[in-house]
Amino acid sequence: MSQVTDHSDHAPLRGPIGVFDSGYGGLTVLREIRKALPEPDLLYLGDNARTPYGTRSFRVVYEYTLEAVRYLFAQGCPLVILACNTASAKALRNIQQQDLERIAPGRRVLGVIRPSVEEVAEVTRNGHVGVLGTPGTVSSLSYPIELEKWAGGKVVSTVQEACPIWVPLVENNELDSPGTDWFVEKNIRQLMGKDPLIDTVILGCTHYPLLLKSIRKFMPPGITLIDQGPVVASRLTDYLDRHPDINRQISQGGSTLFLTTEAASLFESMAALFLGETVTAQTVSLDTPPSS
Ligand code: DGL
Repeated sequence: MSQVTDHSDHAPLRGPIGVFDSGYGGLTVLREIRKALPEPDLLYLGDNARTPYGTRSFRVVYEYTLEAVRYLFAQGCPLVILACNTASAKALRNIQQQDLERIAPGRRVLGVIRPSVEEVAEVTRNGHVGVLGTPGTVSSLSYPIELEKWAGGKVVSTVQEACPIWVPLVENNELDSPGTDWFVEKNIRQLMGKDPLIDTVILGCTHYPLLLKSIRKFMPPGITLIDQGPVVASRLTDYLDRHPDINRQISQGGSTLFLTTEAASLFESMAALFLGETVTAQTVSLDTPPSS
C-alpha cells in the first residue's frame, strides 16, 4: 500500500490544510475552499473504508475522527477542517478540548457546524431554523446547542429532521430520479410540519448540495438554504486573516492531494460526481504509522 510522506518526527515549517470527511461528501466543501483559496496546498482524506459515519455511535465516530486527524497532523497539516457534519457533531468538541493540546499543541481543528450557525445568525429574519442532517448529526443535538450558543440570540426555534436515505441516494447517483424526489419531499414536509414558520434551513450534510435541485423543488418559497461549502470556505478565509500565526504555517503551492482508506480506483470514480473533475487518489491506512 502506498503512503504519503511521514512528517511526524520532523514537523515541517509549512504544510497543507487537511480536509477530512467520512468519504466523498467532503469534496463538496473542498471544491468551495479551492475556489475561495486557490493558493494553499490541500490534503483531502476520505475514510471510505469505514463510511458512513452518519449511523454510527458517538464513541466510534470520535475514535475514527481522532485517528484521521492524527494522521493528517503526521502528514504536516497545521490545520484540519472536519468537512463531515457527523464528525463535527460527534468528535470536534472532544478533540479540541481533550486531545489537541496533548497530541499537537499549536495546531488547529475546525468543523462545519460553527460557520453554518454564524451564517444563520446573519440571514434569518424571524429566528425559526430548520436542520436537515444524518441521524447521527440530528441525534447529537449539536446544531440546536450551537445555534443557542453562537447565533447571538437571533434564533427562537430550531427543529431538525434526519434524512437517512439521502446519502445512499446520492452515492448511487440517483440525483434526479422520482424516488429521490419522493424522499426529499417527504423529509421536507416532515421538517416544515414541525415548525411552519421556518425561514432558514441548514443543509447539514456534505451530500445535500448534490440534491439541491430536488430540495428547491419541495422547499416552500422564501426559505433561505444554508449550503455549507461556500459558507465554510468564506469563514475559513476570514479565519486565516484573523490567525496569521496559523496562516504562516500553511504551504502555498495551490496543490490538492487525495487520500482514501479504500481502493483508490473506487475513490477516483466517485470523486468525479462530487467534484466535477477527475482526480488521482492514493490509498492509505490510518492505523499504521505512515512510512516514507
Ligand atoms: N459526511 C457525512 C456528513 O456530512 C455524510 C456521510 C456519512 O454518513 O458518513 O454527515
